[in-house]
Amino acid sequence: MIDKINELLRQVEEFKPKAAGELEEFRIRILGKKGELNALMEQFKSVAPELKRELGQQLNRLKNRATERIAALREELQNASEEQSASSGDLTRPGSAEHLGSRHPISLVRNQIVEVFSRLGYTVADGPEIEDDWHVFSALNFPPEHPARDMQDTFFIEKDPDILLRTHTSSIQVRTMERQRPPIRVICPGRVFRNEAISYRAHCIFHQIEGLYIDEGVSFADMKQSLLYFAKEIFGEHTAIRMRPSYFPFTEPSAEVDVSCNLCGGKGCAVCKGTGWLEIMGCGMVDPNVLKANNIDPEKYSGFAFGMGVERIAMLKYGVKDLRLYFENDVRFLHQFDQAL
Ligand code: PHE
Repeated sequence: MIDKINELLRQVEEFKPKAAGELEEFRIRILGKKGELNALMEQFKSVAPELKRELGQQLNRLKNRATERIAALREELQNASEEQSASSGDLTRPGSAEHLGSRHPISLVRNQIVEVFSRLGYTVADGPEIEDDWHVFSALNFPPEHPARDMQDTFFIEKDPDILLRTHTSSIQVRTMERQRPPIRVICPGRVFRNEAISYRAHCIFHQIEGLYIDEGVSFADMKQSLLYFAKEIFGEHTAIRMRPSYFPFTEPSAEVDVSCNLCGGKGCAVCKGTGWLEIMGCGMVDPNVLKANNIDPEKYSGFAFGMGVERIAMLKYGVKDLRLYFENDVRFLHQFDQAL
């Protein structure tokens, strides 16, 4: 009997099945109800008592070893078959799609605004975010100590001479006038900085797009028509605009531009506070003092300028109520613009 046990132990150690079926057959032959082990157990009952201890131990060893080895072999076979099915998969099957990132809503709106004005012949101009007093204020007809400087709370980096973070991208317009003679037709997108408390409607960093058009015989009517075209392109064909008198040091006359509320169609709602109108930008005819400061003859040339906040346009366009969402970059917010534009 001991020989039989040893023989079975050897078989268990050496067994190498090629398929799960073969392994199962082996298991039934050794461990099955009518298998070899049970047959040995049967014989064991009639073994002489003095041999029982030793044979009992050997039988247990056989049982444990066989169970362990069969479980291990089963796992091996399973892993092998998984690997095989992975490598021999359907090679013509379409690949799994990579999830691409998407443009930030502020970039989407900025690009769209730039695109609308480029159709009107404007080119994009750029300039530094850290500026001097001349380009942000003085060349734009802000006299020293003039209260209009307080309209935009400024972050100063150095005093005397003043170095500061630009509060508007009008500074790019000044830089353009230094480099270029009329006709000038530029659009100036960029980040601007104002020392304002952060809230749902204000931030200390935001994005602006300003425009400047200077040529012979440019009139207020040209400005009105250009801005109406812009408003219809951004907010839809049925959009109307209105202008309200305003004040900026660098334009005269100056105006604020409102668009008809695209949410209620002008009837009045919570977003437009019942007025039917939404303010979108400032504009005006370039003040002759600005032209003079930049060596452009105001007798010969005239022009208009306008400036708007990109966040504000994006909020109105997408119905976003809290400006801070544009800066937090929460992907749950950003993913909503995957398909936009
Ligand atoms: N620079 C102004 C601002 O930042 C906007 C503006 C630009 C107004 C051009 C009129 C003309 O508020």
